[in-house]
Amino acid sequence: MRILAIETSADETAAAVTDGRNVLSNVIYSQIVTHAKWGGIYPALAKRAHEEKIDPVVKKALEKFNLNKDIDYIAVTYGPGLAIALEVGIKKAKELAQKFHKKIIAVNHLEGHIYSSFAQNSKGNPKHQFKFPYLAFVISGGHTEIVLFKDHCSYQILGETLDDAAGEALDKAAKMLGLGYPGGPVIERLAKQTDNKDYYGFPRPMLKSNNLNFSFSGLKTSFFYYLKETPEKEKIKNIKKLASSYQEAVFETMEKKLESAIKKTGINRVVVGGGVSANQYLRSKLRFLLKKYGGSILFPPFKYLTGDNATMIGVAAYYKAQKKMFVKNVDELDRVPRLEL
Ligand code: KG4
Ligand code: ZN
Repeated sequence: MRILAIETSADETAAAVTDGRNVLSNVIYSQIVTHAKWGGIYPALAKRAHEEKIDPVVKKALEKFNLNKDIDYIAVTYGPGLAIALEVGIKKAKELAQKFHKKIIAVNHLEGHIYSSFAQNSKGNPKHQFKFPYLAFVISGGHTEIVLFKDHCSYQILGETLDDAAGEALDKAAKMLGLGYPGGPVIERLAKQTDNKDYYGFPRPMLKSNNLNFSFSGLKTSFFYYLKETPEKEKIKNIKKLASSYQEAVFETMEKKLESAIKKTGINRVVVGGGVSANQYLRSKLRFLLKKYGGSILFPPFKYLTGDNATMIGVAAYYKAQKKMFVKNVDELDRVPRLEL
């Protein structure tokens, strides 16, 4: 089953052609440079960039395919995300669906991140068999959620962030340290140079709470006041130690919450998705955790699958298509910026 997938929920304009779990083509135009100077996504610029890039990106993804003959369905992200960004992808999907008489599969962006660990290259590798249920850990710039992934297309949120997402917490700290956007990769690099040690013991939020929810605003505030009270020279001198200590506070919180979820549910198979899952140190931490519980953990197998991409939307759409979850009335398909799983 060949699917043309489109994703425009944030700052990546992306299109892909997938065949089941296999990726046949994947194109991503990243707007990071456009937004870098604002320290985050600037909505009006995102809309314009999506509008400029959607046609060339879709065209490139379809380079080796004839939409009419080679493609069975069109998949598109309809939320959650930035309304004016989502609209661009949805409009394109509708236009192509109507012109070429294809059915649309509307995909939740978070579903995409959850399925990203199961994507395979065109040769069908890596070959992980599904073994439900899983705990799915979605960790991105917009979301931090622990989800019970019961079966294909069946989810239950067990815990989520009450304020900032993990990636957002890293981005904000990086901004306070003057490290630019996005912050996750820079913090990872600096922290590695101190062997990921914790020097300052910033607070680990919500660890004592008896639920699986997250909150990073307290940590962010504590970091802010620490920096405010610290002379500039000392901040610069200790920038690696600060980055590493902050990262450790975020990651240890994530690790402990995931551990609570494993204990609570008795499920020791985990899939991880979202931009923060690119972090190698976090991967090693979580692998170690799952080893302790005799379980297994899957991460997106290719780097481009950690951040926003359309391949993951195509893979999720394949399982929705098998359940005949098509959009019934294309005219009524609309973006849902606060869509939940
Ligand atoms: O999934 P994503 O590309 O977009 C959203 O759906 O939000 O995630 C972006 C987030 C940003 O906050 C970015 O700082 C973070 O992922 N990120 C990382 C790394 N690469 C990207 N965080 C930690 N370590 C990384 N290597
Ligand atoms: Zn995302």
